[in-house]
Amino acid sequence: MSYVVQSVTTSDAPGVARAMFSAFWQDIHWQRLWATDMDLEAIIRDCAERLPWLLISGRNVKRHLKVVDTSSGEIVGYSRYIVPESHVGMWIDAQTFEPSPEEKLGFEQRFESVTDNGRIRGMNYAMLAEFGNPLDKVEKGILKESGPCFAVDYMSTHPAHKGHGVASMMLKEALKQVDAIGLKTIVMASPAGRGLYERQGFIFVCTLAQDYSKYGITEPYVHHWLLREPHK
Ligand SMILES: CC(C)(COP(=O)(O)OP(=O)(O)OC[C@H]1O[C@@H](n2cnc3c(N)ncnc32)[C@H](O)[C@@H]1OP(=O)(O)O)[C@@H](O)C(=O)NCCC(=O)NCCS
Repeated sequence: MSYVVQSVTTSDAPGVARAMFSAFWQDIHWQRLWATDMDLEAIIRDCAERLPWLLISGRNVKRHLKVVDTSSGEIVGYSRYIVPESHVGMWIDAQTFEPSPEEKLGFEQRFESVTDNGRIRGMNYAMLAEFGNPLDKVEKGILKESGPCFAVDYMSTHPAHKGHGVASMMLKEALKQVDAIGLKTIVMASPAGRGLYERQGFIFVCTLAQDYSKYGITEPYVHHWLLREPHK
Protein backbone atom coordinates (compact mmCIF):
# COMPACT_ATOMS: atom_id res chain seq x y z
CA MET A 1 0.00 0.00 0.00
CA SER A 2 1.17 3.53 -0.66
CA TYR A 3 0.29 6.52 1.49
CA VAL A 4 0.87 10.25 1.53
CA VAL A 5 0.69 12.74 4.43
CA GLN A 6 -1.20 15.96 3.70
CA SER A 7 -2.69 18.95 5.47
CA VAL A 8 -6.42 18.97 6.25
CA THR A 9 -9.20 21.18 4.89
CA THR A 10 -12.82 21.53 5.98
CA SER A 11 -13.94 19.54 2.92
CA ASP A 12 -12.08 16.52 4.38
CA ALA A 13 -14.65 16.31 7.20
CA PRO A 14 -16.49 13.13 6.02
CA GLY A 15 -13.26 11.18 5.44
CA VAL A 16 -11.63 12.38 8.63
CA ALA A 17 -14.77 11.53 10.65
CA ARG A 18 -14.80 7.98 9.25
CA ALA A 19 -11.10 7.31 9.83
CA MET A 20 -11.07 8.82 13.31
CA PHE A 21 -14.25 7.32 14.73
CA SER A 22 -13.73 3.89 13.15
CA ALA A 23 -10.39 3.91 15.01
CA PHE A 24 -11.78 5.02 18.38
CA TRP A 25 -14.73 2.62 18.07
CA GLN A 26 -12.32 -0.26 18.64
CA ASP A 27 -11.89 0.86 22.24
CA ILE A 28 -14.73 -0.63 24.32
CA HIS A 29 -14.34 2.06 26.98
CA TRP A 30 -14.87 4.77 24.39
CA GLN A 31 -17.85 2.90 22.89
CA ARG A 32 -19.53 2.85 26.28
CA LEU A 33 -19.64 6.69 26.36
CA TRP A 34 -22.34 6.63 23.67
CA ALA A 35 -26.09 6.06 23.93
CA THR A 36 -27.09 2.63 22.63
CA ASP A 37 -29.13 4.16 19.78
CA MET A 38 -25.96 5.83 18.39
CA ASP A 39 -24.24 3.25 16.22
CA LEU A 40 -20.90 3.91 14.53
CA GLU A 41 -22.53 5.15 11.30
CA ALA A 42 -24.68 7.68 13.22
CA ILE A 43 -21.63 8.87 15.16
CA ILE A 44 -19.61 9.31 11.95
CA ARG A 45 -22.50 11.15 10.23
CA ASP A 46 -22.90 13.65 13.08
CA CYS A 47 -19.14 14.10 13.42
CA ALA A 48 -18.84 14.98 9.71
CA GLU A 49 -21.33 17.81 10.30
CA ARG A 50 -19.55 19.10 13.42
CA LEU A 51 -16.02 18.87 12.08
CA PRO A 52 -15.78 21.88 9.71
CA TRP A 53 -16.69 24.15 12.64
CA LEU A 54 -14.27 22.34 14.96
CA LEU A 55 -11.49 22.52 12.36
CA ILE A 56 -11.75 26.31 12.15
CA SER A 57 -12.48 27.08 15.83
CA GLY A 58 -9.34 27.84 17.79
CA ARG A 59 -7.41 27.48 14.53
CA ASN A 60 -4.53 29.60 15.86
CA VAL A 61 -3.42 26.71 18.12
CA LYS A 62 -4.72 23.64 16.24
CA ARG A 63 -2.69 21.80 13.62
CA HIS A 64 -3.92 18.81 11.59
CA LEU A 65 -2.56 16.07 9.33
CA LYS A 66 -4.24 13.35 7.34
CA VAL A 67 -2.92 10.31 5.51
CA VAL A 68 -4.43 9.39 2.16
CA ASP A 69 -4.25 5.95 0.53
CA THR A 70 -2.91 6.93 -2.90
CA SER A 71 -4.63 4.05 -4.71
CA SER A 72 -8.17 4.78 -3.46
CA GLY A 73 -7.91 8.46 -2.46
CA GLU A 74 -9.45 7.48 0.88
CA ILE A 75 -8.46 9.26 4.10
CA VAL A 76 -7.07 6.52 6.34
CA GLY A 77 -5.42 8.49 9.14
CA TYR A 78 -6.01 11.71 11.03
CA SER A 79 -4.05 13.47 13.76
CA ARG A 80 -4.48 16.75 15.61
CA TYR A 81 -1.88 18.74 17.51
CA ILE A 82 -2.09 21.73 19.84
CA VAL A 83 0.72 24.28 19.81
CA PRO A 84 1.45 26.27 22.98
CA GLU A 85 0.19 29.89 23.02
CA SER A 86 3.84 30.97 22.92
CA HIS A 87 4.27 29.31 19.48
CA VAL A 88 1.14 30.20 17.48
CA GLY A 89 3.32 31.18 14.52
CA MET A 90 4.72 27.66 14.06
CA TRP A 91 3.79 25.11 11.40
CA ILE A 92 1.22 27.26 9.59
CA ASP A 93 1.07 24.68 6.74
CA ALA A 94 -0.86 22.37 9.05
CA GLN A 95 -3.40 25.01 10.05
CA THR A 96 -6.84 25.09 8.39
CA PHE A 97 -7.62 28.04 6.10
CA GLU A 98 -9.41 31.10 7.45
CA PRO A 99 -12.98 30.71 6.12
CA SER A 100 -15.04 33.54 4.62
CA PRO A 101 -17.78 34.95 6.92
CA GLU A 102 -20.41 33.06 4.83
CA GLU A 103 -18.53 29.78 5.08
CA LYS A 104 -18.06 30.29 8.79
CA LEU A 105 -21.77 30.84 9.32
CA GLY A 106 -22.57 27.71 7.28
CA PHE A 107 -20.13 25.62 9.36
CA GLU A 108 -21.63 26.94 12.58
CA GLN A 109 -25.15 26.12 11.43
CA ARG A 110 -24.13 22.58 10.48
CA PHE A 111 -22.51 22.16 13.91
CA GLU A 112 -25.66 23.40 15.64
CA SER A 113 -27.89 21.10 13.56
CA VAL A 114 -26.35 18.01 15.21
CA THR A 115 -25.63 19.35 18.71
CA ASP A 116 -27.73 20.43 21.65
CA ASN A 117 -26.38 23.72 23.02
CA GLY A 118 -22.94 22.68 21.76
CA ARG A 119 -23.26 19.19 23.27
CA ILE A 120 -22.70 16.12 21.11
CA ARG A 121 -25.84 14.03 20.55
CA GLY A 122 -25.81 10.68 22.32
CA MET A 123 -22.64 11.37 24.34
CA ASN A 124 -22.83 10.60 28.07
CA TYR A 125 -21.37 13.82 29.50
CA ALA A 126 -21.55 12.66 33.12
CA MET A 127 -19.38 9.68 32.25
CA LEU A 128 -17.11 11.82 30.11
CA ALA A 129 -16.48 14.12 33.09
CA GLU A 130 -16.06 11.20 35.51
CA PHE A 131 -13.23 9.76 33.41
CA GLY A 132 -11.99 12.91 31.69
CA ASN A 133 -11.50 15.19 34.70
CA PRO A 134 -8.89 12.96 36.42
CA LEU A 135 -7.01 12.76 33.08
CA ASP A 136 -6.96 16.56 32.80
CA LYS A 137 -5.65 16.80 36.36
CA VAL A 138 -2.72 14.47 35.68
CA GLU A 139 -1.83 16.31 32.48
CA LYS A 140 -1.95 19.73 34.17
CA GLY A 141 0.46 18.41 36.84
CA ILE A 142 2.92 17.19 34.19
CA LEU A 143 2.75 20.48 32.26
CA LYS A 144 3.36 22.46 35.45
CA GLU A 145 6.69 20.68 35.77
CA SER A 146 7.63 20.52 32.09
CA GLY A 147 6.66 24.02 30.92
CA PRO A 148 5.07 24.72 27.49
CA CYS A 149 4.75 21.69 25.24
CA PHE A 150 3.51 20.87 21.78
CA ALA A 151 0.71 18.32 22.34
CA VAL A 152 -0.33 15.33 20.26
CA ASP A 153 -4.09 15.64 20.78
CA TYR A 154 -5.57 12.93 18.54
CA MET A 155 -3.89 10.11 16.66
CA SER A 156 -6.02 7.68 14.69
CA THR A 157 -5.69 5.19 11.87
CA HIS A 158 -8.65 3.49 10.22
CA PRO A 159 -8.62 -0.15 11.45
CA ALA A 160 -8.32 -1.46 7.87
CA HIS A 161 -4.94 0.32 7.57
CA LYS A 162 -3.45 -0.38 11.00
CA GLY A 163 0.15 -1.54 11.24
CA HIS A 164 1.31 -0.04 7.94
CA GLY A 165 3.07 2.97 9.41
CA VAL A 166 0.21 5.47 8.88
CA ALA A 167 0.37 6.96 12.41
CA SER A 168 4.19 6.90 12.35
CA MET A 169 4.19 8.92 9.11
CA MET A 170 2.06 11.66 10.67
CA LEU A 171 3.99 11.68 13.93
CA LYS A 172 7.36 11.96 12.17
CA GLU A 173 6.10 14.92 10.15
CA ALA A 174 4.92 16.71 13.31
CA LEU A 175 8.15 15.96 15.18
CA LYS A 176 10.23 17.48 12.37
CA GLN A 177 8.52 20.78 13.23
CA VAL A 178 9.20 20.65 16.97
CA ASP A 179 12.78 19.54 16.46
CA ALA A 180 13.39 22.51 14.15
CA ILE A 181 12.37 24.98 16.88
CA GLY A 182 13.45 23.05 19.98
CA LEU A 183 10.06 22.42 21.58
CA LYS A 184 9.11 19.60 23.98
CA THR A 185 6.15 17.34 23.11
CA ILE A 186 3.59 15.72 25.36
CA VAL A 187 1.15 12.93 24.58
CA MET A 188 -1.50 11.05 26.48
CA ALA A 189 -1.39 7.67 24.77
CA SER A 190 -3.66 4.66 24.80
CA PRO A 191 -1.92 1.32 25.43
CA ALA A 192 -2.26 0.69 21.65
CA GLY A 193 -0.29 3.85 20.89
CA ARG A 194 2.47 3.70 23.49
CA GLY A 195 5.00 1.84 21.31
CA LEU A 196 4.48 4.28 18.47
CA TYR A 197 5.64 7.15 20.67
CA GLU A 198 8.48 5.32 22.38
CA ARG A 199 9.95 4.48 18.97
CA GLN A 200 10.04 8.22 18.21
CA GLY A 201 11.97 9.14 21.36
CA PHE A 202 9.16 9.77 23.85
CA ILE A 203 9.90 8.87 27.47
CA PHE A 204 7.25 7.34 29.69
CA VAL A 205 6.12 9.62 32.55
CA CYS A 206 3.17 7.93 34.28
CA THR A 207 0.01 5.86 33.89
CA LEU A 208 -3.54 6.32 35.11
CA ALA A 209 -5.70 3.17 35.18
CA GLN A 210 -9.36 3.90 35.88
CA ASP A 211 -11.85 1.32 37.12
CA TYR A 212 -14.67 0.79 34.59
CA SER A 213 -16.25 -2.23 36.28
CA LYS A 214 -19.45 -0.43 37.28
CA TYR A 215 -20.08 0.03 33.55
CA GLY A 216 -19.68 -3.70 32.94
CA ILE A 217 -16.09 -3.59 31.62
CA THR A 218 -13.56 -5.46 33.71
CA GLU A 219 -10.50 -4.09 31.88
CA PRO A 220 -9.42 -0.77 33.42
CA TYR A 221 -9.35 2.33 31.23
CA VAL A 222 -5.61 2.93 30.85
CA HIS A 223 -3.77 6.05 29.68
CA HIS A 224 -0.02 6.67 29.59
CA TRP A 225 1.69 10.06 29.46
CA LEU A 226 4.95 10.46 27.61
CA LEU A 227 7.23 13.43 27.03
CA ARG A 228 9.80 13.98 24.31
CA GLU A 229 12.72 16.40 24.35
CA PRO A 230 13.42 17.98 20.94
CA HIS A 231 16.13 16.24 18.92
CA LYS A 232 18.94 18.31 17.48
C1 LIG B 1 -2.66 3.50 17.87
C2 LIG B 1 -2.82 3.78 16.38
C3 LIG B 1 -2.97 5.30 16.16
C4 LIG B 1 -1.60 3.24 15.64
O1 LIG B 1 -1.76 3.54 14.25
P1 LIG B 1 -0.98 2.74 13.10
O2 LIG B 1 -1.13 3.51 11.86
O3 LIG B 1 -1.41 1.33 13.10
O4 LIG B 1 0.51 2.85 13.63
P2 LIG B 1 1.84 2.40 12.85
O5 LIG B 1 1.51 1.48 11.75
O6 LIG B 1 2.58 3.63 12.51
O7 LIG B 1 2.57 1.64 13.99
C5 LIG B 1 1.86 0.55 14.60
C6 LIG B 1 2.60 -0.76 14.43
O8 LIG B 1 2.80 -1.09 13.09
C7 LIG B 1 4.19 -1.35 12.86
N1 LIG B 1 4.56 -0.77 11.56
C8 LIG B 1 4.97 0.48 11.34
N2 LIG B 1 5.25 0.65 10.03
C9 LIG B 1 4.96 -0.52 9.42
C10 LIG B 1 5.00 -0.97 8.08
N3 LIG B 1 5.41 -0.17 7.08
N4 LIG B 1 4.58 -2.22 7.82
C11 LIG B 1 4.15 -3.02 8.82
N5 LIG B 1 4.10 -2.66 10.12
C12 LIG B 1 4.50 -1.42 10.41
C13 LIG B 1 4.89 -0.62 13.94
O9 LIG B 1 6.11 -1.25 14.23
C14 LIG B 1 3.91 -0.71 15.08
O10 LIG B 1 4.11 -1.89 15.84
P3 LIG B 1 3.58 -2.07 17.35
O11 LIG B 1 2.39 -2.92 17.24
O12 LIG B 1 4.71 -2.74 18.05
O13 LIG B 1 3.24 -0.70 17.93
C15 LIG B 1 -4.07 3.06 15.81
O14 LIG B 1 -3.99 1.70 16.14
C16 LIG B 1 -5.39 3.63 16.30
O15 LIG B 1 -5.94 4.52 15.68
N6 LIG B 1 -5.91 3.07 17.42
C17 LIG B 1 -7.17 3.48 17.98
C18 LIG B 1 -7.17 4.93 18.42
C19 LIG B 1 -6.15 5.19 19.50
O16 LIG B 1 -5.94 4.42 20.42
N7 LIG B 1 -5.59 6.38 19.39
C20 LIG B 1 -4.69 6.93 20.38
C21 LIG B 1 -3.30 6.60 20.09
S1 LIG B 1 -2.33 7.36 21.37
